[in-house]
Amino acid sequence: MEQKYIDETKQGEAFAIAERPENTKKLFLESYGCQMNFSDSEIVASILNEQGYNTTLVPEEADLILLNTCSIREKAEQTVRKRLSQFKNQKQQNPRLKVGVLGCMAERLKTKFLEEEQLVDIVVGPDAYRDLPNLLKETEDGRDAINVILSKEETYADINPVRLGGNGVTAFVTITRGCDNMCTFCVVPFTRGRERSRDPHSIIKECRELWENGYKEVTLLGQNVDSYLWYGGGPKKDFAKASEMQKATAVDFAQLLDMVAVAVPEMRIRFSTSNPQDMCLSVFRTMAKHKNICRYVHLPVQSGSDRILQLMNRQHTRQEYIDLIKAAREIVPDVAFSQDMIVGFCTETEADHQDTLSLMREVEYDYGYMFAYSERPGTPAHKKMADDVPPETKKRRLQEVIDLQGELSRKRMQSYVGRVHEILIEGTSKRDENQWKGRNSQNAVCVFDKLPGQNIGDMVRVFVYDNTQGTLKGRTVEE
Ligand code: SAH
Ligand code: F3S
Repeated sequence: MEQKYIDETKQGEAFAIAERPENTKKLFLESYGCQMNFSDSEIVASILNEQGYNTTLVPEEADLILLNTCSIREKAEQTVRKRLSQFKNQKQQNPRLKVGVLGCMAERLKTKFLEEEQLVDIVVGPDAYRDLPNLLKETEDGRDAINVILSKEETYADINPVRLGGNGVTAFVTITRGCDNMCTFCVVPFTRGRERSRDPHSIIKECRELWENGYKEVTLLGQNVDSYLWYGGGPKKDFAKASEMQKATAVDFAQLLDMVAVAVPEMRIRFSTSNPQDMCLSVFRTMAKHKNICRYVHLPVQSGSDRILQLMNRQHTRQEYIDLIKAAREIVPDVAFSQDMIVGFCTETEADHQDTLSLMREVEYDYGYMFAYSERPGTPAHKKMADDVPPETKKRRLQEVIDLQGELSRKRMQSYVGRVHEILIEGTSKRDENQWKGRNSQNAVCVFDKLPGQNIGDMVRVFVYDNTQGTLKGRTVEE
């Protein structure tokens, strides 16, 4: 999956793998939204695998259909509603079929889902997946089942995720859940609850097992990984109440990164997402120390205007963000950055928008994920501010940031031409089956001709001779 955020206008991705031969029931599980949802789906598949379910890619043959949903923008929710309506006929023909909604939409809409969508039998929030076996039993008795309780502790640390539909080379490992930041536009703190960190030992154990099973790259996942803090369990907010012993032995993100890099020295390590307000230079120092930590940071800024950043409750200024990037580049000169931007946030003026464009030029991002502001019910922005930028203006501004990012990406890709890069082979190129597809440390996608003896999962040295806006073209350096 080279794209961080799946375009929510597209259909979700369904996964299937060969699982336990003794299992007789079939689960169709489709994920929408961010990487965290894909990672959560692997936990869900693992829990249901124990309950007699194997996954299938064919909804028509499923006994249970689960959609792991996203609420981040209105469009994401509309896509899921549309998808649900497609299962109506199937449900009429097969009354035994159960349909469930998981994830952020389940958490946001709760019982409303059962009332509004007659075909939904099960509603489960992101912290309640362990309860799925009980909930399924309830539906067998003909009742609707719901659990949307958010937890302060749940990290699913002990659950070994079933790796779904992957390439066997790259995997996600969740390190924090929830978010305490309360950016005013964002629904995540409401749907995923308080921020908590996972025990570093269980993270390292999972990474080691992945390496032993042939994986070559892990992405450490969290809404805000730089805020990681382990002191023995519990939400980050309660750290002040921790004992002296717990405080003295606490592990922060830079330390965790160091521990993982040492534990699996040949594994490539990535992480996402970083919030500028919590990012410390110690993370870049750790990166500089270890060759296996990839030179790439996804560092969403959302806007280049100080006034808008403040209205969004982002806890840093434009200048502080620029200073962070400058300092990071001094420590790790070849580090690449990508952004998330929201255009058309409440009260955004043309001058604010120009500030966003000029920040992008100043930073020269490798990639970007850009969105028009979508008002989310219940968020602070919805409660206190008017969604007052007209849709046509949002659309035009969005196109301008997308066009500019295109230019910047092309320029950054060009800067990789004429050099040798270490590329991890992730699979066959979609365009040409005689070519491999992989990424360099900076997360740039590279395609090159297959040579005999090369396999998926190999790290190869590739000379890059050309580029497009999003792809490097290369050839293997034969030693
Ligand atoms: N935890 C991440 C972001 C999670 S949401 C962070 O620290 O930034 C992923 C992205 O979706 C955000 O970065 C933001 O750019 C976008 N997004 C979130 N809420 C949105 C909304 N209401 N409208 C449009 N885009 C939004
Ligand atoms: Fe959302 Fe801000 Fe957290 S964007 S996920 S509230 S860091």
